[in-house]
Amino acid sequence: MGKNPDKLLTDLQERLNYLTQLGVEYLYLTPVVRSSAPSQRSRFLALEKQIQNCRACPLAETRTYTVPGEGSITAELMFVGEGPGYDEDQQGRPFVGRAGQLLTKIIKAMEFKREDVYITNVVKCRPPDNRNPNIEELEKCQTFLFEQIRFIQPKVIVALGNVPNHFFLKRKVGITSLRGKFYKYMNTQVMPTFHPSYLIRNEKNRQLKRLVWDDMKQVLAFLGKR
Ligand code: URA
Repeated sequence: MGKNPDKLLTDLQERLNYLTQLGVEYLYLTPVVRSSAPSQRSRFLALEKQIQNCRACPLAETRTYTVPGEGSITAELMFVGEGPGYDEDQQGRPFVGRAGQLLTKIIKAMEFKREDVYITNVVKCRPPDNRNPNIEELEKCQTFLFEQIRFIQPKVIVALGNVPNHFFLKRKVGITSLRGKFYKYMNTQVMPTFHPSYLIRNEKNRQLKRLVWDDMKQVLAFLGKR
């Protein structure tokens, strides 16, 4: 009897993740004669397709849509959140709910458009009830974010809240002490700052917004914009 297709896909996904971590970027499965290498955009679209087809962790069972990310694939600035919420899961787009509206305002205040930057999350499927992604989910999904960063090579990543910062740093330091100081990850400078949802939850605390803006001013200065 043949193998269960879901299991086959999961095995294949794991094998591909492993190869990617070894630095393998392409797999030509059939001896196709090509006149040129696939374009950058089609390579990026192939990565998005891989995310859309992913069934490597249990979040695939409960998601409506995967949320690979969106924006410019040559962006110098990338924003990384924790994972899609309800609205993002319904639309397959990152940061489109209330927190997303606030993030969009921040991006505009920095004199960028959403299309100029790249916006994504550490995990690409919604964790039920908006809980934080667990270790298994983070591990199964991590290759996608590695690949996105390796591909786009942003000059700065703004890491929103605890989850992406713990993921990049591999240790748990609270966002309050991390924020405002660049650190390096994969040849890129990461600026940790508060997650927009945290700002919304603490709407009356205007100091938090000021701190986020201080962090964004450092990002702009690093990019030579101010
Ligand atoms: N919160 C996140 O971390 N990411 C989203 O895409 C939306 C809300």
